This record gives sequence, structure tokens and C-alpha cells, in this order.
Amino acid sequence: MKITGPILCVVGARPNLMKVAPLLRAFAAHAPAIASGLVHTGQHYDRAMDGQFFDALGLPPPDAHLGIGSGTHAVQTAQAMERFEPVLDASAAGAVLVVGDVNSSLACALVAAKKGVPVIHVEAGLRSGDWSMPEEINRVLTDRLSDLLFTTERAAADNLRREGIDAGRVHFVGNVMIDSLRQHLPAAGAGRKALAGLDSMGKLPRSGAYGVITLHRPSNVDDAGVLAGLVATLVEAAARLPMVFPVHPRTRACLEAGGLIGALERAAILPVVPLGYVEMLALMRDAALVLTDSGGMQEETTALGVPCGTLRDNTERPVTVTEGTNELVGRNRDRILALVARTLRSGGKRGRVPEFWDGRAAERIAGALAGLR
Ligand code: UD1
Repeated sequence: MKITGPILCVVGARPNLMKVAPLLRAFAAHAPAIASGLVHTGQHYDRAMDGQFFDALGLPPPDAHLGIGSGTHAVQTAQAMERFEPVLDASAAGAVLVVGDVNSSLACALVAAKKGVPVIHVEAGLRSGDWSMPEEINRVLTDRLSDLLFTTERAAADNLRREGIDAGRVHFVGNVMIDSLRQHLPAAGAGRKALAGLDSMGKLPRSGAYGVITLHRPSNVDDAGVLAGLVATLVEAAARLPMVFPVHPRTRACLEAGGLIGALERAAILPVVPLGYVEMLALMRDAALVLTDSGGMQEETTALGVPCGTLRDNTERPVTVTEGTNELVGRNRDRILALVARTLRSGGKRGRVPEFWDGRAAERIAGALAGLR
């Protein structure tokens, strides 16, 4: 494979931003520099979900903004494809680089592949085995469309081999999201300070242990009964360990529709707006325990050595369980409460940082791509 023009990087949703920022920096820092461009599909658009991350991560303004916004999976994917095509045509791009598993990643990979423009996938090969998850469909299809696949953990190469993808196209480079974490963690202040102004009632005790909750998977939040059950368990857990809960917009809408905000507010749970990148890092680093259904936070807690209970029955990031601090607790009340009790008793799982989660993954990717010019 040869790359004969700039590498057009795609972002769409919040979790893409901390992955692309270190790549753009590594491309610029490589000698000679690797030419690149940035396209934002606009899948996420609120300042809280998007703009504040551009600022915190030092991302340049995108060269093109497609403004697709929210919609059904079909509408979102179709609009991203339709609007990306003319941008790609006008760009003279030598390759399109997508990260992660969101609808924007699949949409732009598909447009590029059909035009014969090489596709590069960063964070390839992760599999939950759960085809009911929209991201799993995106992962499998994006990898199938990709010419070059960069992986974050060794299990990913086995998944790709099983799917018949030529091992020569797969490179284990580590985790670019952890590059961002390592770059920005030193500037992060105390976790409680990250909540400045958001806890005017002093709901979180001034000292002592606290936990962090995040929830946004459709499988956890879209069904009113499922969400009510989870909230009931989290209220019980918070009686042992007070919790901060930065609430994703999807989840806020579901909590409001289910009349569940009051239950959170009456409990030792502090619901807050989605936090900024560095604030969230600080909050996680100083937490006793994180309960989440996010993929990225499973990895970030492993890198930080902070115990994590994943509110899902599977994970596409198994190294966070085998080596890191992650435990799968599903939506099971007894398992969630047992994890809280164990963490308070013994400090919980500490784990170790996986291979190549060392802050230099983007540099490895730049090195590999430079050789293809
Ligand atoms: C998307 C990704 C998911 C990722 C998550 C991180 C897919 C299939 N899903 O899910 O993998 O973990 O982003 O957040 O690509 N909304 C706003 N403001 C925004 C964005 C969304 O209010 O800036 C609200 C809208 O009501 C929207 C809902 O959140 O309907 C869901 O957003 P959407 O982008 O469809 O999916 P996410 O749940 O964010």
C-alpha cells in the first residue's frame, strides 16, 4: 500500500476526539511531517459533548464540518456518507483514517473504500461478540473495509485473523486514547475540584472516598424498566459510597422520561452535566471506584489503576479485565453491591498497565505510515 496524499482523519463523536488529537500531533511532529486534514461529521454537536473537548485537547478547527447531528442509525450513517463524499473528492487525500466504532467511522470508511481510497482503522479488531450492539456492527464492517489496521491489545489480532484479515495489514501499536491521558493527566487538579460550582449543595462529602457513575449504552438506558432497575441499584450502592454522575444527554432524556431524576437527587448521588476531558480524568484518578458502561472509561481506569465495574455482560476490551482493573458486573444488583463492598474493604483490583499503553502509540502509527509514502 502507498499513501500518495494527505491523511484525512475523521471525528464524529466525543470518544473520537481524544484518539485523533495525539495522531494529528504525531503526524505534525514526524520528520518530515505527515500531511493530514480533519473532517468532523458533527455526530456530536453540543459544546459539552464536543466543543470543550476540541479546546482541552488542542484540536485544530476541522477543515470540513458535515453537521449531521442526531438521527436514527440509518439517517446518521447515510447523511455522513452523502456529505463526506464531496469533501473526500475535493481533498486529494492519500488515505482516510477513522478511529473507534461510532457510526461516523463506518460511514466514512465505506465512502473511501468504494472510491478506492485506502482506509486506516485505529483501534481495530476489538470484539464484544454481541451483535445487538450497534458499535459491534460498526467494528466488524470498518475492519473489513480497512487496508491498514492498528490495534490496542494483542487479542485484537486473533479476532482479525479469525475473520480472515491478512495479518500483514495488522499492526499492534498500543492505545492512542492513553496517549491523550498521559499527556493531560499532569495538568489535572484534584478530582473534587473538577466539580467546582457543580456541587453547591455539598452533596459529595468534602473528604473520604467517592465513586463515579456514567451510563449511556442504549441497552442500559433506552428501556424504562431496565434503567429504573439500574438506578435502584446505584441508589443502594451510593448509600455505601457517595457517587458523582456526569449525565450523557441521551441518558438525561431517558431519566427525565422515566421520572427518575428525583430518585437520584434524593440519594447520595450528584448528577452533573457532562464534564470536560481533564476534569473527568481528575475525577476518575481520585475515585475509589468507577461504575460505567463506557468502552473508553474501562481503558482509562485501567491506565489509572482505579477499580472499574463495567455495567455490561461483555467487553470488547478484554485486556482491561485480564490485566487491568476492570470487572464485568452487568446490571446485577448483587454483583454491583459486592464490588462496592469489596472495594471499600480492600481498595479493589489494581491490575497493571497493558503493553504499549505508554503514551507513544500515535508515534508508532506515524512511524508506520511514514514508511508508506
Ligand atoms: C455515540 C456512539 C457510541 C459512543 C457515544 C459516546 C454510535 C452508534 N454510538 O452514542 O458508540 O459510545 O456516542 O457518547 O455511533 N445528543 C445531544 N448532544 C450531542 C450528541 C447527542 O443532545 O452532542 C443526544 C441526542 O438526543 C441524541 C442522543 O444524545 O439523540 C444520542 O446521541 P447519538 O450520537 O445518537 O449516540 P450516542 O448515544 O451519543
